[in-house]
Amino acid sequence: MKVLVVGGGGREHALCWKIAQSPLLTRLWCAPGNAGIAQVAECVDLAAEDVEGQVALAVRLGIDLVVVGPEAPLTLGLADAVRGAGIACFGPGQAAAALEGSKTFTKQVADAAGAPTAAWARFTQAEAARDYVSAQGAPIVVKADGLAAGKGVVVAASVAEAHAAIADFMEARVHGAAGASVVIEECLVGEEISVFALCDGKTALFFGAAQDHKRAFDGDLGPNTGGMGAYSPAPAFTDAQRDAVMARIIRPCLDEMAARGTPFTGVLFAGLMLTAQGPRLIEFNVRFGDPECQALLLRLESDLLELLDAAAHGRLAGHSPRWRADAAILVVLATRGYPGAYRNGSEIRGLEAVRGAQVFHAGTRRDGARILAHGGRVLGVGATGATLADARAAVGSAIAAIDWPEGFCRGDIGWRAL
Ligand code: AMP
Ligand code: GLY
Repeated sequence: MKVLVVGGGGREHALCWKIAQSPLLTRLWCAPGNAGIAQVAECVDLAAEDVEGQVALAVRLGIDLVVVGPEAPLTLGLADAVRGAGIACFGPGQAAAALEGSKTFTKQVADAAGAPTAAWARFTQAEAARDYVSAQGAPIVVKADGLAAGKGVVVAASVAEAHAAIADFMEARVHGAAGASVVIEECLVGEEISVFALCDGKTALFFGAAQDHKRAFDGDLGPNTGGMGAYSPAPAFTDAQRDAVMARIIRPCLDEMAARGTPFTGVLFAGLMLTAQGPRLIEFNVRFGDPECQALLLRLESDLLELLDAAAHGRLAGHSPRWRADAAILVVLATRGYPGAYRNGSEIRGLEAVRGAQVFHAGTRRDGARILAHGGRVLGVGATGATLADARAAVGSAIAAIDWPEGFCRGDIGWRAL
């Protein structure tokens, strides 16, 4: 099978690394890829969001399966365009990708499916939003309705903080058009968890759970990021909770999408709060979490390509992914300054000295023999172990071997579980 993976981050490196191990694979490309991905796939310098370019590339290469990593090309309709060209695609079409693009849409689908979520209301006028917050009281959650690179959410401890968020999103438009409308939600309390399900439009298979750390610094302090590390499995998540999530949230929402004529194919990523009343849906994403994907795939025993291909062809029923009994931890190395302003181009040395861990590249560029940082989140260093503590120790030794003074990482990934 000839495969094209679209994207160029840590998630796509992990996907390529695992797909490259499949006996079904004949040749693997990644566009745009990065310096690490180039070790396992042929990289093509083409933006993930270039829908026409990606389709033309897949046609020219005679690709059998396109695997789309990030959400942006999915919300632009890349999966529809690939399927329109007669090529199988792992990833939802534009209509189904709205589960990530619009928080209101997700709420409507969850409500229609009877899936438990937080009480909510949507506003297009700042004044009405402020009145609602004043009436509800705090804590309360304010969200920009559109895509805001994971940054359009404020969990407000006070009414004043919620009012300030409404002003930022709707009036100052700090996230641009994403703040034209806001969703205001009941604040859920509990342990937060990410659950992944492979979907083929009709069938959903549980594909692991993970927890990530969104704050930049140790102790869950500092600004929110795309995720500074992750671990899987999540000890807080029981088998009974897993079954409840699949039966009450994932499967009903998948059925609802099919009933609407917009079946969901790809990976459905449910962000959940494990509340005292049971798991409740916070949000859906329509792709693998990053860095969660890197931790998950370190534990996967099954042939990933076989599963992705089955999902793309509506043939998931009967498959059941096998996992190693081990725990996995993934720690992100980011450029100093991230998630604020940072400088690209610093050299990373010592990667060849890493033992006992896997290094995934998230934002790197090759310059001759040198590997240069090219992004905020730059590397993901992951390992498995009999226990989370063993896995974390292995990751710690690997990071110690990496010589990159301009980088930083958290030293406490997994602390809640340890
Ligand atoms: P989102 O972009 O929707 O994932 O939200 C970002 C983060 O805000 C989530 O990971 C949660 O930690 C938090 N959050 C979102 N919605 C709620 C809610 N209704 N109650 C409590 N925390 C929330
Ligand atoms: N790590 C969270 C995400 O990928 O959205």
